Amino acid sequence: MSKFITFEGMDGAGKSTHLAWFADQLRQRGLEVVVTREPGGTPLGEQLREMLLNQPMSMGTEALLMFAARMEHVEEVIKPALRAGKWVISDRFSDASFAYQGAGRGMDWGKLAQLEQWVHADLQPDLTLFFDVPVEVARERLSNNVSLDRFEQEQGEFFERVRSGYHQRIREIPQRYAVIDAAQPMADVKHQLEKIIASI
Ligand code: TYD
Repeated sequence: MSKFITFEGMDGAGKSTHLAWFADQLRQRGLEVVVTREPGGTPLGEQLREMLLNQPMSMGTEALLMFAARMEHVEEVIKPALRAGKWVISDRFSDASFAYQGAGRGMDWGKLAQLEQWVHADLQPDLTLFFDVPVEVARERLSNNVSLDRFEQEQGEFFERVRSGYHQRIREIPQRYAVIDAAQPMADVKHQLEKIIASI
């Protein structure tokens, strides 16, 4: 049976590196895996991503464009792949909108819940891996990047709010999440992921 798995965490948590490895592990077990990302995942979504990461805009516009890109992604990529029996792993999904636009920027949580209902009322991830790290650790990892996007340029307090936004989502629907302690060395994180793979 196909599964929809999402990876979440704040910038610098290391989720993208682990996602590639995780997808390989599933493929080695004979599964057909589609790896995708948000914002993005479709030609239109990638154009919206370019704007979202680089162009200043109001918080409402930001939230609407995130969900516009998501609508396209859900209809054109995620649902067709799941229907075809494939596994889908997305680097971020709606939890990121609650964490970044909601908790980070201050966008009303209820409005985001309405958009979520509109865009994917009948679809939620089967499992979300949340890569959790203290903000200082994430900031330190990002400091090696040469160019930072509009979100990565935010200050520490913004990321404290983002992290607590993720924790709030996890409290609302705990059974959907696996929380990974991503402050640990890479080998230990892999060990945690191996256990999750064995369980699914
Ligand atoms: P990210 O996965 O961090 O891309 P990269 O690893 O290439 O830097 O995602 C880009 C940014 O988009 C990230 O800072 C979080 C932000 N974002 C939101 O603010 N809301 C959303 O709904 C999504 C999907 C992403």
